[in-house]
Amino acid sequence: MNSQQAKKQAPPINERFSKSGFILAAIGSSVGLGNMWKFPYITGKYGGAAFFLLFIICLIIVGLPILLAEMTIGRGGRGNASVSLVNLTGKKYWGAFGLLSILTAFMIMSYYAVVAGWTLHYTLESFTGVLFQSGSDYKDKFLSFASGYWPLFWQAVVMLVSGWIIARGVSGGIEKFNKILIPGFLIILLILMFRSLTLPGAAEGVSFFLKPDFSKLGAESALIALGHAFFSLSLGMGCMLTYGAYVDKKQSLGGATLAIGFGDLVYAFIAGLVIFPTVFSYGLKPGEGVGLAFMALPAAFSQMPFGAFFGGLFFLLLAIAALTSAISILEVPVAYAMSKWNWSRPKAAIYVSVLCYLVGVPAALSVGGVLSPLQLGGKGIFDWMDFITSYILMPLGGLIVTLFTGYAWKRAGEEAGLTGFWYRAWMVLLRFIAPVLIVLVFLYSVGIIKV
Ligand code: PHE
Repeated sequence: MNSQQAKKQAPPINERFSKSGFILAAIGSSVGLGNMWKFPYITGKYGGAAFFLLFIICLIIVGLPILLAEMTIGRGGRGNASVSLVNLTGKKYWGAFGLLSILTAFMIMSYYAVVAGWTLHYTLESFTGVLFQSGSDYKDKFLSFASGYWPLFWQAVVMLVSGWIIARGVSGGIEKFNKILIPGFLIILLILMFRSLTLPGAAEGVSFFLKPDFSKLGAESALIALGHAFFSLSLGMGCMLTYGAYVDKKQSLGGATLAIGFGDLVYAFIAGLVIFPTVFSYGLKPGEGVGLAFMALPAAFSQMPFGAFFGGLFFLLLAIAALTSAISILEVPVAYAMSKWNWSRPKAAIYVSVLCYLVGVPAALSVGGVLSPLQLGGKGIFDWMDFITSYILMPLGGLIVTLFTGYAWKRAGEEAGLTGFWYRAWMVLLRFIAPVLIVLVFLYSVGIIKV
């Protein structure tokens, strides 16, 4: 198929972000639950400031080159995560590879909305103080909430809100909301940082988070840092590619790459300064993920003066982080549906959101709920969806992007605005370094290689 035919098949995208709107939307995508509940913990565990340095190196050699590649493909191809690849090469089989990342995004969205829903429930329960009444076993409280039917309601709210924002379009929806939510996020984060750093014993938390320990660096921490750099920048599932298709030709993609990488890093760093002083100040043990956010931190807020207020702010922060990421994930299949079936944006947003909701329901009911007995190899539905997408499909999607930009599409440098040394460096990273490292992380995370 030549590119003329490819264009006929899917009309070129004509919605556009403003310059700052794009940067904020991309930061909104990258700053998510990963920054809030995973990054601080792995940093504390694998060597503090030493790990932080390692993470920056991984961002530079793998994260940023792929981020730039995704945005470049989107802007050059001016299509969704599948059509762009066909538009740029004229080869239909690339469309099938692209389809994979659209499926990945759809699957992630369906269970990400469940978690985002939990954060909404906790925001409400914390501000009203209900969370801190009747007993202090926060593990038990979380499990009894997650195993019930309320999560289905909150999941529906998340789908409704993100579907509605997406339906309003790129500039009137995605851009507009990120422009409000991301600065709001920063303000809340700074308030909480001030609160946590002034708690008695805060220094112990800061020291757990940042005290450099180079002896902890090794193959394992390197693989973890790499995997997280990838996840944290929302790579491998067509998010940045789809957003890239809405970027103006005049915007510098290299500049955007640096701004997004820096933004992601800063938010993750401040999140660490919020979480550890709070947890340590109340003598609690840090962990990651669900245990940290829904069990350890509520216990800390329950003892803090005005804890309901600060706890509410904290969960609101999680909710915003999750929502701005969810929007970017949902946009991937919505953009696909619009061009594939020629649907209007609102129609595509409604259909995809409803379908996503239905696929997410079994995941929501499998966290201690009625479907939790359905297990395979010790994992329930929710865990399987997470495992398959984060450890198999996302690395695969990233690999496709590196190979496409490094080998298949010859004019990536022009579109990215890179020449000379920077172009050569980018190509070396995309052709040789990033693919090898992605495969290593993949083999490590599925347990084929052990370090
Ligand atoms: N980058 C987000 C985070 O750090 C997660 C995410 C992954 C969002 C993939 C969109 C796509 O939590």
